[in-house]
Amino acid sequence: MKEKIEKILSEVKSFHADSKEALEQFRIQYLSKKGTITELFTEFKQVAPEMRKEMGMRLNELKNTIQDIIDEQQKQFETKSEGKTDLDLSLPVDAMNGSRHPLSIVRNEINDIFKRLGFVVAEGPEVEDDFHVFSALNFPPDHPARDMQDTFFVTKSPDVVLRTHTSSVQVRVMEQGKLPIRIIAPGRVFRNEAISARAHCIFHQIEGLYIDKNVSFADLKQTLYHFVQEYFGEGTKVRFRPSYFPFTETSAEMDISCNICGGEGCNICKHTGWVEILGCGICDPNILKACNIDPEEYTGFAFGMGIERIAMLKYQINDLRMFFENDLRFLKQFENA
Ligand code: PHE
Repeated sequence: MKEKIEKILSEVKSFHADSKEALEQFRIQYLSKKGTITELFTEFKQVAPEMRKEMGMRLNELKNTIQDIIDEQQKQFETKSEGKTDLDLSLPVDAMNGSRHPLSIVRNEINDIFKRLGFVVAEGPEVEDDFHVFSALNFPPDHPARDMQDTFFVTKSPDVVLRTHTSSVQVRVMEQGKLPIRIIAPGRVFRNEAISARAHCIFHQIEGLYIDKNVSFADLKQTLYHFVQEYFGEGTKVRFRPSYFPFTETSAEMDISCNICGGEGCNICKHTGWVEILGCGICDPNILKACNIDPEEYTGFAFGMGIERIAMLKYQINDLRMFFENDLRFLKQFENA
């Protein structure tokens, strides 16, 4: 038996696996239930008592040597195939961590409603000139919105600013001169405001513009009413209050019945039962003229709403800053939205 063990020992020591399969074959040959080592342990039962201690030691040594060889050679295959085996390509996509930001979710939902009405998405630059943000929209030179306190200036004379509203996209689209116009323009806007639960220096708006023959205030009301029923649910009431914007005449602000208390009165609606969600109006004929559109032939309406505002109402979020802090505890709540 001693010779046998020696022989096997020299055999295994010179073994070199050239593949994972060969190594596995080696393991089966020596260490499996029907392998060489098991056979030797069976033979061991017949070993004379005085030889037992020595044989037992040799046999265990052989077994450990074989295991060491396997472990050692196993490593070379592991490093070689790393990246192949560690990457689980069958992992389903929905098990990944990413999800859309709530503002993107809300923007897409609003876009979809207006797209179904035939509106198409338009875009304009965030860094804009004074003309598109103010002048073309009838803001007088001394209008407070141009003041340094509200507007971030990139350069002074020529005035280049970060747009303070998406209404600049109205001008961009009208300039292209293609009629009729039916666009929505979602985007980021900037105002020099102190950051609080209700205000931020960056926020998002969705602008709407519809210009065609015979567009009336009734069309504006019906379009926005439809939007509110779709987005906040049937039965949500709307009301229009007279307002003022330099680029619309007639101008209005639209409120919806508070979807949090159902109009009963709560903190969100300041116990009025109503919350304001957007500004709107009939395009001022002067704006159309400035963009070479004949106001005798064409009329239009425009509206602009804050996406954060809509999202806060929809999801009952009471601090605007949540949208910008990237707190995972907040964002994870929208994983399935
Ligand atoms: N631009 C206006 C704002 O930022 C909203 C608005 C858009 C009003 C279009 C009327 C028409 O407050």
